Amino acid sequence: MKHHESIWTLETDSEKKYPALNGNIRTDILIIGAGITGITAAWKLMHSDKTIVVIDSKQIGSGTTGYSTANLYMPTQVFINVLKRKFDETVVNKVLASRNYAINFIENTILANKINCQFIRRPLYLFAANKKSNQLLYKEVAHFLKAGVNIDLIKAPNEFPLPIHYTQAAVLPNQARFNPLCYLKALASLLTENSVDIYENTAAIKIIEEKNEVIVYTDQNNIIRAKKMIIATHIPKGINKTHFLAYPYRSYAIAVKLKQDDYPMGHFWDLGDPFYSISTHNIGSSKLNFMIFSGYHHKTGHPQHNHQSHYDNIKRYILRYFDVQSFEYGWSAQHYQSADGLPYIGLASNTARHTYISTAYHTDGLVYGTVGGIILADLLLEKVNPWESIYNSNRFTPLASSKRFIKENTKVLCDYVKGHLDAVESKTFENVPNNQGEIVKIKNKKCAVYRDANSKLHVVSAICSHLYCVVKWNDAEKSWDCPCHGSRFTVEGTVIEGPALMPLKKIEVKN
Ligand SMILES: Cc1cc2nc3c(=O)[nH]c(=O)nc-3n(C[C@H](O)[C@H](O)[C@H](O)COP(=O)(O)OP(=O)(O)OC[C@H]3O[C@@H](n4cnc5c(N)ncnc54)[C@H](O)[C@@H]3O)c2cc1C
Ligand code: FES
Repeated sequence: MKHHESIWTLETDSEKKYPALNGNIRTDILIIGAGITGITAAWKLMHSDKTIVVIDSKQIGSGTTGYSTANLYMPTQVFINVLKRKFDETVVNKVLASRNYAINFIENTILANKINCQFIRRPLYLFAANKKSNQLLYKEVAHFLKAGVNIDLIKAPNEFPLPIHYTQAAVLPNQARFNPLCYLKALASLLTENSVDIYENTAAIKIIEEKNEVIVYTDQNNIIRAKKMIIATHIPKGINKTHFLAYPYRSYAIAVKLKQDDYPMGHFWDLGDPFYSISTHNIGSSKLNFMIFSGYHHKTGHPQHNHQSHYDNIKRYILRYFDVQSFEYGWSAQHYQSADGLPYIGLASNTARHTYISTAYHTDGLVYGTVGGIILADLLLEKVNPWESIYNSNRFTPLASSKRFIKENTKVLCDYVKGHLDAVESKTFENVPNNQGEIVKIKNKKCAVYRDANSKLHVVSAICSHLYCVVKWNDAEKSWDCPCHGSRFTVEGTVIEGPALMPLKKIEVKN
């Protein structure tokens, strides 16, 4: 199985690349991050009279969007009955309406611009195999029916296309899937034809909001001044209150080929514990079929046993039900779960005047990212948006948020203290085995030490550059992951994702 590669790259490797920013610039609107949120916002702003610049620290779609499982659906993985306990029915109905609107927006954009990204409509099946998940399924179905959503209980076994035992199942027609990378790259190409400037390999490393503008410093020592800015980096960079309201999780996905070429058409949610999402995809003109299984998430920096075991658990689940020819690709990606179950979309804080954010999508962010991009574009153009208020990033929802807020932030505090007090794993570099990362204390400093397959040491400070928690080793992705707010770093200390703007400090050692 190829690790850390998603199948969406199979079709887009040779696509157009964009230059890195070289020089200082001014623009009306700066968008940091070219995932589905940033590119959708740019798309919606494109025909305004504003000048627009998009920058990405890596490439278009190389964040979670390019490592998602590419399903588009109206329901949310924070189940409707959970949302209904926190919000009134009008809010929940608006959530469903906004998600439905976003899927139609994606479809209409694809059709109008003849984008080839395998968009198809297809059903989403929810299924349960025990008493607890049966009840969950009944509740979800009841809520959907009350909201006027077309959903049917499965009545005969031949109506359910998976070879998995279930006791109750329901089908929601007319959901969708696509290739998110092809979609983003096609939009990016059209954006540049319409005077939007896109820069790849250009990371924001310092972000300042001043009275009349924002100033962004990049890793190549360039300065961007903008009247307005959207931070579309999945979670805002720097310090933002959403770091205490949105909690980082890693999920795992495996794409397999089946022995028989009769791939069931659809997207399926196994409502058991753990939850699984299963879907069929084919890639482009070659019509390569894959089944993708994802689930088994854990809080970043807190794997169940080790990170690799999460792939192993998914493999066991697959082999229980499917005749697998080969495990082709395996990848993991991050998502952020909000304290009250809904994303935060709007101004970056109560006092911000030019900086906007959109974050905390759970694993439903291809649709929520589209909703976020649309809402932010409307806010910047001072247009009325019907959903802006329900997702307002500065909402105050103590009843819906406090339980999770207290639990998660107490955990962060414990992680901070524990990280600094904990015994180190080794006292000398010599004890770190090949292919392994360990925390080593040298001259009273905690070092994050990785020894590669050729015995070469890679040593950086173990203190996260965001708010100073001690990072932990991720054995599956070979990265240093912060257990507090989810910043992740390469073995050389470079930021992979999360709120950190700056790398882990390098520590020179003799190899
Ligand atoms: C395993 C998994 C499967 C999922 N499957 C689905 C699914 O089937 N359907 C669904 O709706 N949702 C799914 N999601 C959720 C969804 O993929 C994400 O919520 C969504 O892609 C987030 O988009 P984004 O644009 O906000 O962030 P990203 O796609 O992460 O984009 C952020 C961009 O910002 C850039 N960036 C970061 N830091 C900087 C910086 N300092 N300077 C400049 N640029 C920077 C990054 O390089 C990146 O390109 C899944 C999530 C996971 C984890
Ligand atoms: S991500 Fe916040 S301290 Fe590391």
